[in-house]
Amino acid sequence: MLRVAVVGSGPSGCYTAQTLVQLDPEVRVDVLDRLPCPYGLVRYGVAPDHEKIKSLQGNLRTVLEHDRVRFLGGVRVGGPGGLPVARLRTLYHAVVYCVGAAADRHLGIPGEELPGSWSATEFVSWYSAHPDATDAGFVRGVRSAVVIGVGNVAVDVTRMLVRGAGELRPTDMPQAALDTLTASGVDEVHMVGRRGPSQARFTTKELRELGALPDTEVSLDPAELEMDAGYVDSAALPAVQRRNVEALRGWATAPARQAARRIRMRFFLRPVELLADGGRVGAVRFERTAPDGRGGVTGTGRYEDVAAQLVLRSVGYRGVPLEGLPFDAASGTVPHAEGRVLRDGAVSPGEYVAGWIKRGPTGVIGTNRPCAKETATSLLADAPALARREVAQDPLDALRAAGVEPVPWAGWQAIERAEAALGARLGRGVVKLSDWDALLGAARSA
Ligand SMILES: Cc1cc2nc3c(=O)[nH]c(=O)nc-3n(C[C@H](O)[C@H](O)[C@H](O)COP(=O)(O)OP(=O)(O)OC[C@H]3O[C@@H](n4cnc5c(N)ncnc54)[C@H](O)[C@@H]3O)c2cc1C
Ligand SMILES: NC(=O)c1ccc[n+]([C@@H]2O[C@H](COP(=O)([O-])OP(=O)(O)OC[C@H]3O[C@@H](n4cnc5c(N)ncnc54)[C@H](OP(=O)(O)O)[C@@H]3O)[C@@H](O)[C@H]2O)c1
Repeated sequence: MLRVAVVGSGPSGCYTAQTLVQLDPEVRVDVLDRLPCPYGLVRYGVAPDHEKIKSLQGNLRTVLEHDRVRFLGGVRVGGPGGLPVARLRTLYHAVVYCVGAAADRHLGIPGEELPGSWSATEFVSWYSAHPDATDAGFVRGVRSAVVIGVGNVAVDVTRMLVRGAGELRPTDMPQAALDTLTASGVDEVHMVGRRGPSQARFTTKELRELGALPDTEVSLDPAELEMDAGYVDSAALPAVQRRNVEALRGWATAPARQAARRIRMRFFLRPVELLADGGRVGAVRFERTAPDGRGGVTGTGRYEDVAAQLVLRSVGYRGVPLEGLPFDAASGTVPHAEGRVLRDGAVSPGEYVAGWIKRGPTGVIGTNRPCAKETATSLLADAPALARREVAQDPLDALRAAGVEPVPWAGWQAIERAEAALGARLGRGVVKLSDWDALLGAARSA
């Protein structure tokens, strides 16, 4: 029997566990997560109004309920108070790190740390009820917001800023976030890309959703769009970009209409400074850019200030080093060969990676499936050598001896029941618990 620990219960962790037990009847997998709740960004990233994508949790659930897979929540690996990587390594024949890329990237411009300027990560974590999130009063007193970046996360946060009560109430969003967002006075969101519309990273389905929001108009500046050769002649663009450009063209040529809220999509503007007003952010200064003919842009020395009381920086995620594991700071990933962790360029026996910490923070949920399969296949190819190592009879006993009391699957199910009960009390569907005490209290009631 080969005992494997998978660290992280997001898509890559669940797909790794699934592949291992499907391909080898002799494997047992413990899926550890620092949170008492499974599913990683599917629970704490995917937007609450995307119920269909959220329902993928059902597929991940069947993996964690497999009779040779065990969920152990509330177990942090590495870092202060966490189980050291070296100790974990002694408990299992192999360990697969699937810890994602939880941190945000920085712009590195003056004013970035002003109150009112937050990363999209912080905003997403708040409305998704992540227990580490804080209520920074994101939208209080805000009429105009700037979202920097034109990827799918930028689309998500833009949409959440303009959604109304009727659409948010049926979601599992925590009550405090729902109350705040539905009472917000945000009526204008500027979503700004530093390059052109044909280089935006969002996908067409997500983009089109902005145009379908009730009482919201999407407006564009035709002169900005036409600076982009790919927009002017989209025939040679890859399919996603061509469809994006077509959707934008449709909005740019549609007659203006009256709406309570407006999403202004802007291009060829790169942020250079956040300007203060009364001790908090009041505007973003952008430099107008121009295409350089090679897919990039150059500055023009012309500037434009966009007033905003809220700035959400949505410029991508980055991996964080896990103490005891090698880390490549430039890419924010763990060095590997086909999923095998490399230490000083050589394969480290029994250590593997999958998901965003392996590839970097790009790709949808499904992208993690082949990525996890590659890693699981490498691990199983190494299995004969790994199985020769002496490990704990039951790692759970060893974890308890090390002072770690994991939240078992039954604990997570108790959290689910508590969230259903909370929703029923509030006259809503399931409503997420958003703090550690409530989650652990519910888990202990199991
Ligand atoms: C805001 C946002 C919205 C998204 N929306 C969509 C969408 O709608 N559709 C789509 O297809 N894709 C979406 N994605 C992309 C998708 O979420 C990712 O591709 C996927 O979650 C990456 O999987 P992962 O397992 O590598 O990481 P994660 O999902 O981040 O999982 C990592 C897990 O590891 C745990 N962990 C981290 N550190 C430790 C530690 N030290 N010890 C123990 N456990 C640890 C975390 O708690 C977490 O559960 C979205 C991404 C973001 C950021
Ligand atoms: N519904 C969904 O399927 C969904 C939802 C959310 C997320 N996801 C996935 O999750 C992954 C992460 O998404 P993401 O939106 O965080 O990242 P992303 O797709 O990499 O987009 C990041 C955006 O930030 C911009 N940017 C980066 N640095 C910048 C800077 N210094 N100044 C100004 N702009 C800057 C990028 O512009 P440049 O291109 O010019 O660098 C790009 O527009 C993606 O693969 C995404 O598809 C999917």
